[in-house]
Amino acid sequence: MSTAKKSSEKKVTTNVLLGMKERGEKISMLTAYDHSFARILDDAGIDVLLVGDSASNVIHGHETTLPITLNQMIDHASAVVRGVERALVVVDLPFGSYQGNSKIALESAIRIMKEAGAHAIKMEGGEFIIESVRRILSAGIPVMGHLGLTPQSIYKFGTYTVRAREDAEAEQLRDDAKLLEEAGCFALILEKIPAKLAAEVAKTLTIPVIGIGAGGGVDGQVLVTHDMLGINKEFSPRFLRRYAQLYDVMKSAFEGFKDDVKSGDFPNEKESY
Ligand code: KIV
Repeated sequence: MSTAKKSSEKKVTTNVLLGMKERGEKISMLTAYDHSFARILDDAGIDVLLVGDSASNVIHGHETTLPITLNQMIDHASAVVRGVERALVVVDLPFGSYQGNSKIALESAIRIMKEAGAHAIKMEGGEFIIESVRRILSAGIPVMGHLGLTPQSIYKFGTYTVRAREDAEAEQLRDDAKLLEEAGCFALILEKIPAKLAAEVAKTLTIPVIGIGAGGGVDGQVLVTHDMLGINKEFSPRFLRRYAQLYDVMKSAFEGFKDDVKSGDFPNEKESY
């Protein structure tokens, strides 16, 4: 299989994203965990590829995002970076690689930038991780924030339900968003919060706000690629739009192969040397 790359359009940078927000041009972002998917996503013109720690669930079969390691994230990210010409590649700092210790946070971020060749990192949380955010930014590494439903804190929340419905949590989210912007984050993800609150935050901030389950009033949208392709049948939250039903397409292809092997129809003469 050829892995040659086609000539590139203008590369997406953090500045390009800022310009898109200023012009009111929406930002498209999807997850990628491997080289083949990264190439297709980049060819399709997706602006930002997120090497999400959702790889923990989607690729490694864990129930939560907590078990995935920094080494595993670096492996996924390296493969993605090698498949991309235009898109900005953002990589999640996994659980345990940044919370509570800004020196370790910086070391983790540096490993991702150096070993994977990533363009930026993403971190979940506001005030309680701000020291780590500042330290990473001070090393010249672009940081994307992530507020609202933050899956690395699932055992604190106890549920994947909509966040910031209550006034106190909404107020905290507004403060955290401002804090992250002031610290120097180049963009912010808002996950599973009321559309009205997300739109208000997007209007208040000058950096792009990208939503997942946060309504249409933000500056861009992100989905987990395997979910929007319908590879996974079980996960169907209200915010998920499925653009294909690949579970059925793939299963039927696998069954076709199995049947042809069993019957001796594959390979035929033309498929043999
Ligand atoms: O890990 C991930 O895929 C994410 C998105 C859901 C935003 O953080």
